[in-house]
Parts: sequence; C-alpha cells; structure tokens
Amino acid sequence: MRIAVPTETALHETRVAATPETIKKLMALGADVAIQAGAGALSGIPDSDFAAAGARLEPTLSATLAGADLVFCVRRPSAESLHGLAKGAGVLAIMDPYGADAALNGLAEAGVSAFAMELMPRITRAQSMDVLSSQANLAGYRAVIDGAAEYGRALPMMMTAAGTVPAARIFIMGVGVAGLQAIATARRMGAIVTATDVRPATKEQVESLGAKFLAVEDEEFQQAQTAGGYAKEMSKDYQAKQAALTAAHIAKQDIVVTTALIPGRPAPRLISADMVASMRPGSVIIDLATERGGNCELAQPDEIFTSANGVKIIGYRNFAGRLAATASALYARNLLAFAETLIDKETKTFAPKWDDELVKATLLTRDGAIVHPNFQPKT
Ligand code: NAI
Repeated sequence: MRIAVPTETALHETRVAATPETIKKLMALGADVAIQAGAGALSGIPDSDFAAAGARLEPTLSATLAGADLVFCVRRPSAESLHGLAKGAGVLAIMDPYGADAALNGLAEAGVSAFAMELMPRITRAQSMDVLSSQANLAGYRAVIDGAAEYGRALPMMMTAAGTVPAARIFIMGVGVAGLQAIATARRMGAIVTATDVRPATKEQVESLGAKFLAVEDEEFQQAQTAGGYAKEMSKDYQAKQAALTAAHIAKQDIVVTTALIPGRPAPRLISADMVASMRPGSVIIDLATERGGNCELAQPDEIFTSANGVKIIGYRNFAGRLAATASALYARNLLAFAETLIDKETKTFAPKWDDELVKATLLTRDGAIVHPNFQPKT
C-alpha cells in the first residue's frame, strides 16, 4: 500500500499533511510513504527528517503520486493535479465542498474516493480525527497573538513607577472552538474579556473561562443550536437586535476577535463599517471568518486593512497556518487516526468499510460519481 503526500500549492498554505512522527506510524501499518521534496519546508520539517523517518522523497508531484493508493493533502487538490492517480485511490483533505460543484465533479471524474475531513462527525470515536477542532483551536490562539502584536498598547494592567496602564478590553464574537481558545488566551494575557454567541450553551462556557457573556437572550436564542451543535442562521429581526446590543459594546473595545460561522452558509455579518468607525484609533479587529466572506464588513482577505479612523482589521484566511509546525503536527495526527480506520490491518491494504458512519459522513466521491447526499448535482 502506497501513501503519497504532495506539497501544498495554495497561496499562504504553510501546512503539510504528514510529519515524521505520523509517517513512522503509517509505515508500521504496512504503508510505503512517498513525500514530495520540500513539502514540509514551510512547517519547519526538512526533507532529511522525512527521509530519516523512512519516507521516500520524490522530486515531482507526478512521481509522488505514482502508484499511490491513498493521498494525504491539507487543501482539496484539483482534479488536474491528480492526473495519473489510479482509479479508486483515496484522497483525504479539507475539501471545502460547499459551492464547489465543478471541483467535486472533477474529483468524481478522476475516479478517486475523496474524503472531506471537515465533515467528520463530532462523536467520541472521531475526536482524534476532528480537523475543524484541531485547527480552529490554534486559529483562536493565533488570532489573539496577532491582535496583540498589532495593538500598540499592553494587554495586562500594569502598575509601574510611571503610573498605571489599564488592561485592554477584548471582545470575542462567536464562541465555538476558536472563540473559546481566544477567550482563554486573552485571559492568560491579562485582558478584560467579554464574549457573545447565539447558542445558549456557550454562556456557561464563557463564564467558566472567567469572561463576561453578552447576548440577546430571547426565544430565538433558546432555539439557535442545531442537533449537531452548530448555530442556525438567525432571523433579520434577531440580527438587528444583536447589532443594537453589540454596537455600543464594540465602541468601547480595544480588540475584537470574530469567529462566527454557520456550516455551509456565508459567515454572518456582525461588524458594520459604522461600528468600526465608532472604535478608537489603534483598536484592532481580527476576523477569523474572512475565508467565508467575513464577520466584519471591512475585512480584506489576507490583509491588514486600516480604516479611515485608524482601526486595523486583520483578515488572514489561514490563522492555523500561521502556526505551521503545530498545525501540521495536529492535522497529520488527525489524518493518521482516520487512515487507521481505512486500512485493513491483516492485508495491509486501503480497504474502507463503506458502511462505516465516518466513511459515509465524509465520502464525497466514489467510482466516478458524487456520492454524498448533501452535494448531489442539481438537476
Ligand atoms: P463554528 O466554527 O461552526 O462557529 C463558531 C461559532 O460561531 C459557534 O459557536 C456559533 O454558535 C457562532 N455563531 C454563529 N452565528 C453567530 C452569530 N450570528 N453571532 C454570534 N455567534 C455566532 O463552530 P465550532 O467551533 O465548529 O463548534 C460547533 C459546535 O461543535 C459547538 O457546539 C462545539 O461545542 C461542538 N464541538 C463538539 C466537539 C465534539 O463533540 N467532539 C468537538 C468540537 C466542537
């Protein structure tokens, strides 16, 4: 059984889908691992470390993919890049399948079994395979670090001989995995932290981290969490009430971190240009939802945009990738954990159990067709 690990090609993608640690474990499962030369460079993993772990280094993409049964990627590879891959090969990646019909058709036509890691069910058995959590946790941490670096003042209260410096006020909007880590990080750095979300379950979580919760707690709020634990898209009426409540609060904040997402939908707009205009010069907004259209109206993808009144808005699309070595280490372990369920230990072959709930939840394409019920071509 051959596993291939190509170099990522997307702009600002620093991560790699396998590490020397995971390669050793894959080899123990009977795999022969080929890695494209330079694949770990931006994660601080030199080729020599991969070679020492037993991987075969290949100079080109096509040589890396030759004869592969399984391909490990961070981002969805294009069908063209998989040219030459045998039909029936498995491809594991963050597939970003929403609204990507043409790309999914391409993967189907390439004949590969494409697994979307971000669709992994959030059940106990699959916790070690949860790429959304492993990467969002790091993104939430890094967002506060980036915000603190751009903010021209200290975060903790400081009593010095030259006088007292007040603690910074940090507001976290959206308290999923990224938001909870952002709260914890901002608290550790000594800021005064408040947070908001539309899911009632988050109130206790926010308070248990020592932050103050702020939200429109009406009837719609009580129903905002889906059975899967995600947020629903809120009504226009709720959004207006939420904006009214948060507008006055945002005006008093030094740093705002936004992480609000709704699966398969554009990110909710939480910070308008007017709200940015109400903030003090030197304040910082970090928008983790830029890849989904942004929570802040003024966020620009992969840029730090400075508003007319001097508020910096950080719109990087890949915060986890800004901690490349750690993000790769955790992502690679997520893939290894899932791959272990796809490999037959006796025959040492890639042999997915097609009726396994993890496979059914993540499998997008197989045998030339899009098989996932949520991504069927529109007729
Ligand atoms: P996410 O990345 O989909 O969304 C981030 C946050 O934004 C969520 O808390 C959501 O409620 C919030 N949000 C959405 N619309 C909003 C709005 N208009 N205003 C304010 N906030 C808004 O969420 P994530 O991090 O993927 O977590 C989703 C759920 O999965 C949570 O319930 C979490 O506890 C759960 N989870 C379960 C795990 C497990 O059981 N293994 C592991 C990780 C997360």
